[in-house]
Amino acid sequence: MEIRPLTAPLVEIAADWLIVPVVEPVQIDGSLAGLDKALSGALSRLKDLGDLTGKFASTLPLRGISGLGASRLLLIGVGKPEELTVGRLDRALTTAARAISDKKDVRVAVAVPDAAIGAVSPSQFATSATAAGLVGSLGQDLFRTEKARFPFASVTIASPAKVDGLESAVDRGQILGEAINLTRDLVNRPPQEITPIGFAKRAEAVAKQFGLSCEIFDEKRLEQEHMKSLLAVAQGSTEPARMVIVEHKGGAANGPRLALVGKGVTFDSGGLSLKPTDGMLTMKCDMAGAATVLGAMTAIARLKLPVNVVGYMGLVENMPGGSAFKLGDILTARNGVTIEVLNTDAEGRLVLADVLSYAVDAGVDRIIDLATLTGACVVALGEDVVGAFANDQPWCDAVLKAAKTCGEDAWQLPMWDLYDELIKGDVGDIKNTGGRWGGAITAAKFLQRFVGGKPWVHLDIAGPAFASSNKPHREGGGTGYFVRTLVEVASQFGKP
Ligand code: BES
Ligand code: MN
Ligand code: ZN
Repeated sequence: MEIRPLTAPLVEIAADWLIVPVVEPVQIDGSLAGLDKALSGALSRLKDLGDLTGKFASTLPLRGISGLGASRLLLIGVGKPEELTVGRLDRALTTAARAISDKKDVRVAVAVPDAAIGAVSPSQFATSATAAGLVGSLGQDLFRTEKARFPFASVTIASPAKVDGLESAVDRGQILGEAINLTRDLVNRPPQEITPIGFAKRAEAVAKQFGLSCEIFDEKRLEQEHMKSLLAVAQGSTEPARMVIVEHKGGAANGPRLALVGKGVTFDSGGLSLKPTDGMLTMKCDMAGAATVLGAMTAIARLKLPVNVVGYMGLVENMPGGSAFKLGDILTARNGVTIEVLNTDAEGRLVLADVLSYAVDAGVDRIIDLATLTGACVVALGEDVVGAFANDQPWCDAVLKAAKTCGEDAWQLPMWDLYDELIKGDVGDIKNTGGRWGGAITAAKFLQRFVGGKPWVHLDIAGPAFASSNKPHREGGGTGYFVRTLVEVASQFGKP
């Protein structure tokens, strides 16, 4: 996809589609008035007819028009200026991109507004538009002969007036959009391809491409590291486990390090506690935590953020088999904690336990982990909201603030001591399930045993990481949710 910023009058821009934002109530002034005039007053008439409202995420396509350099116009409502946020704008512009990406080789131009809309500046608009062009025009139909969606041939971010920093705003949008699409691609690819080794190969390739250092631990190395809890999960599979570590050293050599830890269960059958078909159906998505970490790391590197960030991805396939780990097994995790296995389908926490303990011993200063960890979190918060859990309130507040900035929704759940009771073991130190109630919290409580008191936030992305159906504003399948937030956290890391 060719992406370029351009300063030119909107009426002159050659494109198959020109996307133009419209606020509510509609005001035909500035460059919108110029378009109206070139279209012989069509926009004013549509306003009077009540067809052009500017209502949030409403789309009004005008095809086969004459008078403009573009052959089609898409008016996209961005709603009331005082209600607009970057997150809402992302949603509106992605809706617009999705609405016009059903044909091949489409050249799109997006009109940057003359001035800020509410709190959103023209350069923020340019970033949002670029990312939306990339994310909205990419489908999940990787292997379909007849595609439903086609990446745009080109996206021109067109501003009638000179916008300071337009070029770098567009670059940033491209980097974010491509990072989100990398995460989506990894989640959408089938589990036969994205095995632990398949994932590690992709990680190695993108690390090389974007200048991240990359280390891959094979099963022997994991054994040497005593990562017995992670390895137990992989035991029933013919696919060996891996841990991938990618690092961006953008800060001072002795400066603080942020760790991003991802659950990478490349397929979760449940193991011997086998899932029924309905529950297993989407379990290729169980590596979304790792894919989100990798996507964010590529963006952090490409943006050359002046911070030190390490990504850790724990990769296993959870299968039943003759050598599978069993209910009643006692696992000794890397940090010496003994775990009683009550359910082999509570495997994500067993994987993360050892990866978290590795990160802690590597001397990182702050930790965020991401995992499609529990169905209970989806029951609690619904499909569109991330569950947040923490042992350090200021650090949690920083992560939640970043999420808010990006328009991604997360909600904190309590981590009171009373929940520790629920995972106390009979034979070992802790059990890998805490029973039916409060399942998202007891899972987080389990993880807390492996972070050694380091400031840590656990993000349960089981709901939003994977969407079962299309919506106007997003494609079904992998969503890349929280890539933006991780990049924002890294941008703010170490700032007062
Ligand atoms: N990967 C699943 C959680 C999940 C569910 C992710 C739905 C995405 C959508 C996880 O490994 C799991 O199976 N969790 C169990 C835990 C239980 C056995 C304590 C669950 O949520 O049922
Ligand atoms: Mn499971
Ligand atoms: Zn799982």
